[in-house]
Amino acid sequence: MDTNKALQTIDTATGKAAPAEISTERVYDIFSQIARKYERFNAVSSFGAYRRWLDGMMRQAPIKPSDDVLDIAGGTGDVSRWVARFHRPRHIQCTDLVPEMLEVARMHEARGDFCGVPIDFDVVDAQNIPYADESYDIITMAYGIRNMPDRARALSEMYRVLKPGGSLVCLEFSTPPNPVWRALYSFYLKHLIPFWGGLITGDKAGFVYLAKSIRAFPDQRGLAALMEQAGFHDVTWKNYTGGIAAVHVAHK
Ligand SMILES: C[S@@+](CC[C@H](N)C(=O)[O-])C[C@H]1O[C@@H](n2cnc3c(N)ncnc32)[C@H](O)[C@@H]1O
Repeated sequence: MDTNKALQTIDTATGKAAPAEISTERVYDIFSQIARKYERFNAVSSFGAYRRWLDGMMRQAPIKPSDDVLDIAGGTGDVSRWVARFHRPRHIQCTDLVPEMLEVARMHEARGDFCGVPIDFDVVDAQNIPYADESYDIITMAYGIRNMPDRARALSEMYRVLKPGGSLVCLEFSTPPNPVWRALYSFYLKHLIPFWGGLITGDKAGFVYLAKSIRAFPDQRGLAALMEQAGFHDVTWKNYTGGIAAVHVAHK
């Protein structure tokens, strides 16, 4: 009998039912090791496209100057920096599971990289958010949900801490609808991402995981359905670079 059948947690590398610890421990190992090289890898591996995707995310994010923003899986603070520069909200709460990633974000703060927008940092597992119900206007999350073994719980937690009328803005790798582009991208994921990642960070295994997790992740429609199951409504998405990445916007 498959003892994991009753679990709603998955192994994020395969999408198959598995105890949460498998994915949580792996993600912790990877991101605590590569924290200081993470931004360099992002820039090189996507040939700079990640900047266009972040720009698209900012254009879709309905953030007002009076808003309190919660950045989930905020890592080294990249999304929080773009939010600060683009929207100048009242306050940003930048959170992540891995303290080493947030240490890099704090270095950016010391350098004045958040344009004077008030920001706080907190170690937070998105599947168990330690904040009060209805306390944020906007949640941002880039490349976070794919790494979480209990996605339903994480999205429910985000729904809970959002104020009514608030929005979740989520940037994630996705599935190119065009079969030729999809095949090329699949080749890139399987062969080139581990090569680049190994070269830049020295952690080839971490990038084998990255490629696998992208391939096992639901497509645009599948992610929208997960958001709707958590209670969100009017979920829309926009593809970038032919669907390699997508920005979903979901409302409470
Ligand atoms: C690919 S990085 C993205 C970081 C940042 N959002 C960016 O765009 O550069 C993925 C991040 O998700 C974080 N993460 C993974 N699982 C998490 C969880 N359960 N709760 C919060 N953060 C998590 C990792 O620690 C890592 O910093």
